[in-house]
Order: sequence, then C-alpha cells, then structure tokens
Amino acid sequence: MKKVYFETYGCQMNKYDSELVAGMLELEGYEQTAKADEADLVLINTCSVRENAETRVFGRLAALGSLKKQHKELVIGVLGCMAVRLKNEIIKKKPFVDFVMGPDNYRCLPELLSRINNNVEEHVELTEFNSYEIYGELFPAHAAGKRAWVAIMRGCNNFCSYCIVPYVRGRERSRSVKDILTEVEKLAKQNYIEITLLGQNVNSYNYEQRDFADLIQSVADVLGIERVRFATSHPKDLSPKLIEVIAEHPKICNHIHLPVQSGSDNILKLMNRNYNRSHYLKLVELARERIPNLGLSTDIIVGFPGETEEDFQETVTLIQQVKFDGSFIFKYSPREGTAAYRMKETLTEKEKVNRIQILNEIQNRITLKRNQKLVGKVEKILVEGPSKKAKPNQYMGRTESNKILVFNSEAPPGQKLLDVKIVDVQGHTLFGEIV
Ligand code: SAH
Ligand code: SF4
Ligand code: F3S
Repeated sequence: MKKVYFETYGCQMNKYDSELVAGMLELEGYEQTAKADEADLVLINTCSVRENAETRVFGRLAALGSLKKQHKELVIGVLGCMAVRLKNEIIKKKPFVDFVMGPDNYRCLPELLSRINNNVEEHVELTEFNSYEIYGELFPAHAAGKRAWVAIMRGCNNFCSYCIVPYVRGRERSRSVKDILTEVEKLAKQNYIEITLLGQNVNSYNYEQRDFADLIQSVADVLGIERVRFATSHPKDLSPKLIEVIAEHPKICNHIHLPVQSGSDNILKLMNRNYNRSHYLKLVELARERIPNLGLSTDIIVGFPGETEEDFQETVTLIQQVKFDGSFIFKYSPREGTAAYRMKETLTEKEKVNRIQILNEIQNRITLKRNQKLVGKVEKILVEGPSKKAKPNQYMGRTESNKILVFNSEAPPGQKLLDVKIVDVQGHTLFGEIV
C-alpha cells in the first residue's frame, strides 16, 4: 500500500479539502501516515492570505527537499491557494516539487499521480478555475472523532480590497442541498454529532431558491446530529431570518464568527466591505437580543493603508462597545493583484505591531471579564479529548458558544456531550467540574 502524508495550512476549508483529497486517494489504495519520512507522496495544502503564511510553506518545502534527496522516489505536491498564486515561482524556486494543483483541480489528482509515477510527466501545473466544481457527490475521509466539517459553498464574489481569496478560489458557487444532506446523514450514521458548515462566505449560500437559513435547519434536523456550527459569515449576509433560525433551533450553536475588520467607516469603505459601523452594531444588537448567551467572535485587520490614529481609535471603541468573546487580530499584509495593493502603505511595521498589541490587551481583558461571569453556571460541552497542555486526567471540550473548557476526569470520558459546572477562568480558558 502506498502512503500519503498531508500538511495543511490556512482555513478550515483547506482542512476540509485535505480530507476530500484523502478520500479520493483512499479509493486509489493510499493510506495516510503521520510521518513524512515514510511517505511515498507528500502533499502540502497551502494558504496565501498573508505573506507569513507563504513564507512558512517555503521554509517547509526546503526541509522536504532534503527528504527527497534521501528518498528519490518520493512525490511532492503543493495544493491549495499558493499553488494558484505562485505556481511558476514554486516550481522554479523548488524544482524538486513534482506538481502544483489548485483547489478546483483535485479531481485530476489520481490520474496525474499515475502519470507521474510512470514518469510520463514532471513539473505539472494544474491551477485553472472551474466555476462548476463543487465536489458535490464526493465523500471526504473525515478525521476520526465526533466533529466533522462539511463544505457547502466555494469561492467568493466580495472582493474585499485587501483579500486574495477571490483570486485564488474563484467565484461563488453552492453545493446542492441533496449532496450536503447525503454527506451529513452519512456522518450521522458514522456517529459524528457535530457538523460545521463551511464556505468562504457561508451565509451567502443559495441553491435553487434555498438560502443558508433554510439549509442549516435541514442539517440540524438530521437524526443523530446534536450540534451545528458554521464559518465564516459576512455581515452583509447575516439576515434577520438567519438570526431567528439560530435563536429557535436548539441544535444550532449560539455562536457567530462575524468579522468586522475595522471600526472606522472610512476604512470599511476603502476595504470594500459593503457595511458601515452602525449597520454592524445593529446586527450585533439584534443577534444578542434574539440569541441567549450568544458567543460572538470577530476578525480585525490593523494597519490598512491610510489607517489614521482616529480610524484606529474607532476600532478600539468598537471593540469596547461590542465586547466580543474573542478577536483574531491581524496585521495588514499587502497581496499583489488586490485593489489595496495599489494603495500606499502609511504605517511602519512598528506602528502596526503597536496597534495589534493595544487591541489584544483590550480584547484579553474583555474576554476574561465575560468568561468570569460564567463562573457558577452549568454548560454543555462536547468533549474533544485530552487537554492540550495534557496534565494527567485533564480533558477539554467546547461549550456551545465555542469557548474552550478544561476539566478533570479519572477515566477518559469519551467524546460526548457532558454537563460541566464552571468553577474557574484563566484567560481564554474555562475550568469546570463534571456535574
Ligand atoms: N471569508 C472569510 C475569511 C477570509 S480570510 C471572511 O470573509 O471572513 C480570514 C481573515 O484573514 C479575514 O477575516 C481577515 O481579517 C484576514 N485577512 C484577509 N486578508 C488579509 C490581508 N491581506 N492582510 C491581513 N489580514 C487579512
Ligand atoms: Fe476575502 Fe472578503 Fe471574500 Fe472574506 S468576504 S474571503 S475577506 S474577499
Ligand atoms: Fe488561506 Fe485560501 Fe483559506 S488563502 S484562508 S487557505 S481560502
């Protein structure tokens, strides 16, 4: 049996895609290995969203080059968003890479591998967009456990001015309701209980007059499924109907990741986000009013070209006003080919780092305060396994609102839903006792 080793960077969609490719390769007789040095095939699934994501991959590729010197037969492929953006550069800089393949071309992988293994071809680039490809009927090799991702749409039409995703993932397209439900039903039969619906713009889903609110209800109604999540939503597509559905359906988790990017109307306009501060605040108000104990998280970019001290202060006050449960704060990274790339950068690296630190400190204080309010309450968690810092008998799970909770248990609790009373908080982590 041939062995394939995966290394995946970037968002959950990329992780899902690695599972999709793994599913296709299983049918070809490959099995997965966790060790690159015993693999016949190494696949690096890459991300282009910020420069440092790409730098990391080039570093990893250098190490794989030395591996190939020891195993001459090893086949190395670069998948994902960098394959589309930097196809020529990858092959030129790393000539030991056998092929690069974009997210719309994975169906060609088995055939390409047989051509490469028979020495018919080398240095192949397959990175064309295919506006129909949605891998509708394929069933990925989902990672073992109770939680699985399911892609429901691909691509993005929003063209936020800083973002490379529309250029590497192509236009928006939705998978059929039938194919999605078939995959979810299969997962339920395999005892998965939590489903995360994925898309670059998950809530702009639309298939034959059925929108995201319709779809998520049908998914939550599948017998055996206990929890449904989704990522990532764009504020322009968070409809009152969707908020109602989240509020009413007990199996749809009370968590929304709603990237705001900036608190300043000037910057939001330059970013081409299609909403302003007040619209965003109204959405948050409506969602919190309707969905009890809503967990709300966001993404923020600091140092966008032209971001003045006043613009930055607008982001500071927005964070203070909204009081998110968590924020992912990024330094603006210019991406060639995007609209913002042509805008002149106005901040030094040092100023960007400084702004990131200020926002992180504010957010950390807010997160701690919000979490402290939960002490004494009982929450249902889905157990994921031993806690990351792995003290003996310590396990972790996630609350419905997507907070990490660590607890002690003499015996491994298995991956299931458990009631836990929150007794302590340290930073972003809750500590609890089984009820
Ligand atoms: N489709 C999703 C996720 C896009 S990428 C969405 O619209 O929310 C995830 C996050 O990376 C974005 O929300 C944004 O905050 C950040 N990001 C995207 N491009 C970036 C860039 N050029 N520089 C810095 N951060 C960026
Ligand atoms: Fe990028 Fe904007 Fe599309 Fe998200 S919505 S993937 S940030 S262009
Ligand atoms: Fe990165 Fe591509 Fe996802 S650029 S964030 S892996 S869509």
